[in-house]
Amino acid sequence: MIDLLSKKSERLTFGLNSRMIGTGRGDLFYIDYIVAKHNNFKNFIELGTFGGVTSLYIGMIARLRKSTFYTFDISDRRIPCIKDSWLDNMFFMQEDILISANKNVINQIEKENIFLFIDNGNKIKEFSLYVPYLKTNSVVFVHDWNEEIRESDIVEIIKQNNLIPFHNDMAEKLQSSCRGWIKQ
Ligand SMILES: C[S@@+](CC[C@H](N)C(=O)[O-])C[C@H]1O[C@@H](n2cnc3c(N)ncnc32)[C@H](O)[C@@H]1O
Repeated sequence: MIDLLSKKSERLTFGLNSRMIGTGRGDLFYIDYIVAKHNNFKNFIELGTFGGVTSLYIGMIARLRKSTFYTFDISDRRIPCIKDSWLDNMFFMQEDILISANKNVINQIEKENIFLFIDNGNKIKEFSLYVPYLKTNSVVFVHDWNEEIRESDIVEIIKQNNLIPFHNDMAEKLQSSCRGWIKQ
Protein backbone atom coordinates (compact mmCIF):
# COMPACT_ATOMS: atom_id res chain seq x y z
CA MET A 1 0.00 0.00 0.00
CA ILE A 2 1.26 3.49 -0.83
CA ASP A 3 1.87 5.69 2.21
CA LEU A 4 0.21 8.85 0.95
CA LEU A 5 1.59 10.92 3.80
CA SER A 6 5.22 9.85 3.53
CA LYS A 7 7.76 12.41 2.35
CA LYS A 8 8.61 10.42 -0.78
CA SER A 9 5.17 9.85 -2.22
CA GLU A 10 3.35 12.87 -0.88
CA ARG A 11 3.24 15.19 -3.92
CA LEU A 12 0.63 13.59 -6.14
CA THR A 13 -1.95 16.31 -6.62
CA PHE A 14 -3.94 16.13 -9.87
CA GLY A 15 -1.33 13.71 -11.31
CA LEU A 16 1.02 16.60 -12.09
CA ASN A 17 4.80 16.96 -12.05
CA SER A 18 5.68 16.69 -8.36
CA ARG A 19 8.65 19.08 -8.65
CA MET A 20 6.20 21.90 -9.32
CA ILE A 21 4.00 21.20 -6.28
CA GLY A 22 4.79 22.81 -2.95
CA THR A 23 2.27 21.07 -0.69
CA GLY A 24 1.97 17.39 0.21
CA ARG A 25 -1.11 15.23 0.76
CA GLY A 26 -0.94 15.77 4.52
CA ASP A 27 -1.19 19.53 3.94
CA LEU A 28 -4.17 19.15 1.61
CA PHE A 29 -5.92 16.73 4.01
CA TYR A 30 -5.41 19.34 6.74
CA ILE A 31 -6.89 22.09 4.53
CA ASP A 32 -9.83 19.79 3.70
CA TYR A 33 -10.32 19.10 7.41
CA ILE A 34 -10.37 22.84 8.22
CA VAL A 35 -12.87 23.77 5.51
CA ALA A 36 -15.08 20.77 6.33
CA LYS A 37 -15.23 21.87 9.98
CA HIS A 38 -15.68 25.59 9.25
CA ASN A 39 -17.90 26.83 6.47
CA ASN A 40 -17.52 30.49 7.45
CA PHE A 41 -14.23 31.05 5.59
CA LYS A 42 -15.13 32.85 2.41
CA ASN A 43 -12.11 34.75 1.15
CA PHE A 44 -9.06 32.63 0.37
CA ILE A 45 -5.56 34.07 -0.08
CA GLU A 46 -2.24 32.41 -0.84
CA LEU A 47 1.16 34.11 -0.59
CA GLY A 48 3.49 32.23 -2.97
CA THR A 49 1.89 30.71 -6.09
CA PHE A 50 4.82 28.81 -7.67
CA GLY A 51 3.35 26.21 -10.12
CA GLY A 52 -0.18 27.10 -9.01
CA VAL A 53 -1.24 23.55 -8.07
CA THR A 54 -2.10 24.40 -4.47
CA SER A 55 -3.72 27.57 -5.82
CA LEU A 56 -6.07 25.55 -8.01
CA TYR A 57 -6.90 23.25 -5.09
CA ILE A 58 -7.78 26.14 -2.77
CA GLY A 59 -9.34 28.10 -5.64
CA MET A 60 -11.78 25.24 -6.23
CA ILE A 61 -12.78 25.30 -2.56
CA ALA A 62 -13.40 29.04 -2.91
CA ARG A 63 -15.36 28.50 -6.13
CA LEU A 64 -17.58 25.90 -4.43
CA ARG A 65 -18.32 28.55 -1.78
CA LYS A 66 -19.07 31.18 -4.41
CA SER A 67 -16.16 33.22 -3.13
CA THR A 68 -12.80 34.54 -4.28
CA PHE A 69 -9.21 33.32 -4.21
CA TYR A 70 -6.19 35.62 -4.55
CA THR A 71 -2.63 34.37 -4.95
CA PHE A 72 0.52 36.53 -5.00
CA ASP A 73 3.96 35.83 -6.43
CA ILE A 74 6.90 37.89 -7.65
CA SER A 75 6.95 35.86 -10.89
CA ASP A 76 4.42 33.85 -12.89
CA ARG A 77 5.62 30.23 -12.90
CA ARG A 78 2.22 28.63 -13.19
CA ILE A 79 2.24 25.31 -15.07
CA PRO A 80 0.56 25.89 -18.50
CA CYS A 81 -2.24 23.36 -17.87
CA ILE A 82 -2.89 24.98 -14.47
CA LYS A 83 -3.12 28.37 -16.16
CA ASP A 84 -5.55 26.87 -18.70
CA SER A 85 -7.65 25.49 -15.84
CA TRP A 86 -7.68 28.78 -13.85
CA LEU A 87 -11.20 29.52 -12.60
CA ASP A 88 -13.00 32.83 -12.93
CA ASN A 89 -13.06 33.42 -9.14
CA MET A 90 -9.24 33.08 -8.98
CA PHE A 91 -6.89 36.07 -9.26
CA PHE A 92 -3.14 35.83 -9.81
CA MET A 93 -1.31 38.98 -8.68
CA GLN A 94 2.30 39.45 -9.77
CA GLU A 95 3.83 41.54 -6.98
CA ASP A 96 6.89 41.74 -4.77
CA ILE A 97 5.21 41.36 -1.40
CA LEU A 98 8.30 41.28 0.83
CA ILE A 99 9.86 44.75 0.42
CA SER A 100 7.18 46.14 2.73
CA ALA A 101 3.50 45.42 3.41
CA ASN A 102 1.96 45.33 -0.07
CA LYS A 103 -1.23 47.37 -0.54
CA ASN A 104 -2.95 44.80 -2.75
CA VAL A 105 -2.30 42.04 -0.22
CA ILE A 106 -3.58 44.24 2.62
CA ASN A 107 -6.77 45.06 0.67
CA GLN A 108 -7.58 41.34 0.59
CA ILE A 109 -6.43 40.45 4.09
CA GLU A 110 -8.53 43.18 5.72
CA LYS A 111 -11.77 41.51 4.57
CA GLU A 112 -13.95 39.34 6.86
CA ASN A 113 -13.53 35.56 7.29
CA ILE A 114 -10.14 35.28 5.63
CA PHE A 115 -8.32 32.01 5.06
CA LEU A 116 -4.70 33.10 4.60
CA PHE A 117 -2.06 30.59 3.49
CA ILE A 118 1.53 31.81 3.88
CA ASP A 119 3.98 29.95 1.64
CA ASN A 120 6.37 32.50 0.26
CA GLY A 121 10.08 33.25 0.13
CA ASN A 122 10.41 34.48 3.73
CA LYS A 123 7.67 33.10 5.98
CA ILE A 124 8.80 34.85 9.16
CA LYS A 125 8.77 38.24 7.43
CA GLU A 126 5.41 37.60 5.75
CA PHE A 127 3.85 36.51 9.02
CA SER A 128 5.07 39.71 10.73
CA LEU A 129 4.08 41.97 7.83
CA TYR A 130 0.56 40.71 7.21
CA VAL A 131 -0.89 39.06 10.33
CA PRO A 132 -1.57 42.46 12.00
CA TYR A 133 -4.09 43.25 9.22
CA LEU A 134 -6.27 40.19 9.86
CA LYS A 135 -9.67 40.77 11.43
CA THR A 136 -11.13 38.80 14.32
CA ASN A 137 -12.18 35.26 13.29
CA SER A 138 -9.87 35.16 10.26
CA VAL A 139 -7.31 32.34 10.14
CA VAL A 140 -3.69 32.17 9.06
CA PHE A 141 -1.68 29.08 8.10
CA VAL A 142 2.05 28.77 7.49
CA HIS A 143 3.74 26.06 5.48
CA ASP A 144 7.13 24.44 6.24
CA TRP A 145 6.62 24.62 10.00
CA ASN A 146 9.80 23.87 11.98
CA GLU A 147 11.82 24.09 8.75
CA GLU A 148 11.49 27.69 7.57
CA ILE A 149 9.50 29.08 10.51
CA ARG A 150 9.34 28.10 14.19
CA GLU A 151 7.40 29.05 17.31
CA SER A 152 10.32 31.10 18.65
CA ASP A 153 10.35 33.22 15.44
CA ILE A 154 6.77 34.43 15.88
CA VAL A 155 5.96 34.08 19.58
CA GLU A 156 5.68 37.86 20.08
CA ILE A 157 3.45 38.41 17.01
CA ILE A 158 1.20 35.55 18.15
CA LYS A 159 0.83 37.25 21.55
CA GLN A 160 0.35 40.78 20.21
CA ASN A 161 -2.32 39.69 17.72
CA ASN A 162 -4.30 37.33 19.95
CA LEU A 163 -3.67 34.30 17.77
CA ILE A 164 -4.93 30.97 19.09
CA PRO A 165 -3.71 27.63 17.62
CA PHE A 166 -6.22 26.23 15.15
CA HIS A 167 -6.51 22.41 14.85
CA ASN A 168 -2.76 21.98 15.06
CA ASP A 169 -3.21 18.58 16.72
CA MET A 170 -4.88 17.43 13.48
CA ALA A 171 -2.07 18.96 11.38
CA GLU A 172 0.40 16.81 13.34
CA LYS A 173 -1.71 13.66 13.00
CA LEU A 174 -1.94 14.17 9.26
CA GLN A 175 1.83 14.77 9.01
CA SER A 176 1.10 18.21 7.57
CA SER A 177 3.88 20.77 7.71
CA CYS A 178 1.23 23.49 8.01
CA ARG A 179 0.22 25.12 11.29
CA GLY A 180 -2.71 27.47 11.80
CA TRP A 181 -4.02 30.16 14.15
CA ILE A 182 -7.30 32.00 14.49
CA LYS A 183 -7.38 35.68 15.40
CA GLN A 184 -9.47 36.43 18.50
C1 LIG B 1 7.50 27.60 -1.85
S1 LIG B 1 7.05 28.47 -3.30
C2 LIG B 1 5.27 28.47 -3.18
C3 LIG B 1 4.67 27.11 -3.28
C4 LIG B 1 3.20 27.06 -3.60
N1 LIG B 1 2.39 27.67 -2.56
C5 LIG B 1 2.75 25.60 -3.77
O1 LIG B 1 2.10 25.08 -2.86
O2 LIG B 1 3.09 25.01 -4.79
C6 LIG B 1 7.51 30.12 -2.88
C7 LIG B 1 7.16 31.18 -3.91
O3 LIG B 1 7.44 32.46 -3.33
C8 LIG B 1 7.77 33.35 -4.38
N2 LIG B 1 8.47 34.55 -3.85
C9 LIG B 1 9.75 34.63 -3.38
N3 LIG B 1 10.02 35.90 -3.01
C10 LIG B 1 8.92 36.65 -3.26
C11 LIG B 1 8.59 38.03 -3.09
N4 LIG B 1 9.50 38.91 -2.61
N5 LIG B 1 7.35 38.46 -3.42
C12 LIG B 1 6.44 37.58 -3.92
N6 LIG B 1 6.69 36.26 -4.11
C13 LIG B 1 7.93 35.80 -3.79
C14 LIG B 1 8.64 32.49 -5.31
O4 LIG B 1 8.62 33.04 -6.61
C15 LIG B 1 7.97 31.11 -5.20
O5 LIG B 1 7.14 30.85 -6.30
